[in-house]
Amino acid sequence: MQPISHPLQFFQAHFDKYLSKYQDFLRIPSVSTDPDHKADLQHACDFLVDQLKSLGADYIEVFPTPMHPIVFAEKRASKPDAPTLLIYGHYDVQPVAPLDEWKSPPFEPTLEGDYLIARGASDMKGQVMAVLSAIDSIAQTNDQPLNLKFLFEGEEEIGSPSLETFIASHRDLLACDMVLNPDAGMVGPDSPTIVYGLRGLVYFEVRIDGPKADLHSGLFGGVVANPAIVLSEIIANLHAPDGSVAIPGFYNQVLPLTPEEKARIAANPIRESDLLAITGAPALYGEAGFTPMERIGARPTLDVNGLYSGFIGEGSKTIIPAYANAKISCRLVPNQDPDQVYDAIRTHIESRVPPTVRLTIVKHSGAPAYLADDAPGLQHLASALSETWGKPVIFKREGGSIPVAITMQNYLGVKSLLTGFGLPDDHIHSPNEHQHLPTWKKGVQALIRFITGFEHES
Ligand code: BES
Ligand code: MN
Repeated sequence: MQPISHPLQFFQAHFDKYLSKYQDFLRIPSVSTDPDHKADLQHACDFLVDQLKSLGADYIEVFPTPMHPIVFAEKRASKPDAPTLLIYGHYDVQPVAPLDEWKSPPFEPTLEGDYLIARGASDMKGQVMAVLSAIDSIAQTNDQPLNLKFLFEGEEEIGSPSLETFIASHRDLLACDMVLNPDAGMVGPDSPTIVYGLRGLVYFEVRIDGPKADLHSGLFGGVVANPAIVLSEIIANLHAPDGSVAIPGFYNQVLPLTPEEKARIAANPIRESDLLAITGAPALYGEAGFTPMERIGARPTLDVNGLYSGFIGEGSKTIIPAYANAKISCRLVPNQDPDQVYDAIRTHIESRVPPTVRLTIVKHSGAPAYLADDAPGLQHLASALSETWGKPVIFKREGGSIPVAITMQNYLGVKSLLTGFGLPDDHIHSPNEHQHLPTWKKGVQALIRFITGFEHES
């Protein structure tokens, strides 16, 4: 048999092997927020080191952090003075709860038609494996026209607490001409996408304490404040009836949208009917005066991520709960400073707490928004995507957050190419997360084209 000389053919011929590696990665329950999974994060890190070795990395180093290790690797180009591409990925995943909503166990990757179902299948083990599969296919067949550097972390889903310090203190190691970050997604299976904006985030927890322990609601109902009710009232007043956030100062730094930017956002093919279908909500909701795509990509929001108090078991129990707790986050837009927004929120909530209870607010993480449509390598990436799909590339302002993009811009001076092959209905951060495999396959092909596209340069 003739040796296969083209990476696209090599990938096609070895698709089953690449898919099975991807499944191996998904079997590792690397939930970064859960201390019980610490060993699994190390295991996921080791898995990546093995993959990097097998694709022929010249240098690999694992950096411990206070939580989960960072993996750095380098695979040099065949020619000297080739440009350097830094590839970012995260090997951690979100928690799986509620577990009983999963149709198959979250860490037993399950094929169902065109879909691979598992926690992390889309966000973002699938994207990491797409990159590694593309580079391996090139390594097996071709000269590599770029110097490749890899940076993989295990703390993205908890706000990357170790990454900024790492990047700031390893600027030389990470020096590069381009950054590829495939942690963003596509607007649809027929619409290859480059993301040019991301929202920032500030995440905090609000706790209201009342009595020193749960009380009998008959013996004490009527004489002490109920923390669940106090917290509900506070939360209910964080928004105005028109859907805007009712915290003084919240919008202070938000820049108005220019007509050009509005037109650019309107060019996005996602419609209200798509959002209804994807979310299953009976109707859309949001700030008056903005379109749904503006509200996702370019307006700040406040959401309750979790809310609990008192008795949540089956049946009934008559108590006044000792405390109530809410996990709250805000998505931020360019020019908003996460610390200033947090201060405005804290001051506001403090002013709303009656003397009948005690308040504790704790901040978890914060990161600013990102906006840039001129990352180096953009034309190469756009050509590779549109050639693979036979469709023009959609440029999208995304609502999710990828804080590392700003960190890299600040410390390495390089803007990120944000893309990915996940779809809006992949159920990321939710039960039954999945990856559409035909899209994943095209993604690998596009990445092969992107990297080999530098062959004819210089
Ligand atoms: N990959 C996502 C963000 C994303 C998804 C961007 C789809 C664009 C399209 C990322 O892993 C994520 O979920 N990030 C967290 C960041 C936070 C914990 C700081 C987020 O956005 O909630
Ligand atoms: Mn992700």
